[in-house]
Amino acid sequence: MQVIIADSAQEVARLGADQLSALMRTRPGAVLGLATGNTPIALYDELIRRYRDGQLSFAQARSFNLDEYVGLAPGHRQSYRHFMNQHLFNHIDIPLAQTWVPDGLGDPETVGEAYEALIDAAGGIDLQVLGIGRNGHIGFNEPSSSLGSRTRIKTLAPQTLADNSRFFSPDEFQPSLAITMGIGTILRSRKALLLATGESKADAVQAMIEGPVTASCPASALQLHPCALVIVDSAAGARL
Ligand code: GLP
Repeated sequence: MQVIIADSAQEVARLGADQLSALMRTRPGAVLGLATGNTPIALYDELIRRYRDGQLSFAQARSFNLDEYVGLAPGHRQSYRHFMNQHLFNHIDIPLAQTWVPDGLGDPETVGEAYEALIDAAGGIDLQVLGIGRNGHIGFNEPSSSLGSRTRIKTLAPQTLADNSRFFSPDEFQPSLAITMGIGTILRSRKALLLATGESKADAVQAMIEGPVTASCPASALQLHPCALVIVDSAAGARL
């Protein structure tokens, strides 16, 4: 695992964008694994800026998102499909037909396997972007998730529900289930790029990098990844 401690959240976004830019230049048809949450928004803004400057094209890229809320239709304003359209896809040249987000309305029995089959058919993920939850989750793989897990439905942990409640208004339905790529799915990506910013992530970042590999901290599984790059700002890296 390679770790970079950057000076600021902006620098984290720039360095992360450098990774994606280098991949897109050498492999225009790359398969990207993408994430939601606050952290990657600055990365996506930087990618949009580089696309508008003519430095980057995503016309041939394909993308697979990590996760989606169960029960939310793609058009729902709280869905992760909506998030991705708003924060990235609507602003770059990737055709929406080349982007996939797990189906929040899919049959729970088959939806995970179907998503894995789509990833396999695309040739696997070249670069998986990740954030990290305060409890060490990646995607929606909460603590105690199997390290070999594949895409399936998970119940969200109380802390995750509380952390993500800021995105929902008080009278709005907040799903407590999500469909998420598994830790095993993430470990199969050819490169993993985890970004973390802010002091609220410092404990999780320390556990991920310096702690044991354990299902109690799902992100620690990245220690087993053959090519994992972690980029944090000084606040998130404060306990390293
Ligand atoms: C959600 C997402 C994760 C993300 C995490 C942290 O739970 N499923 O993929 O990493 O939130 O989000 P944030 O970047 O907003 O702290």
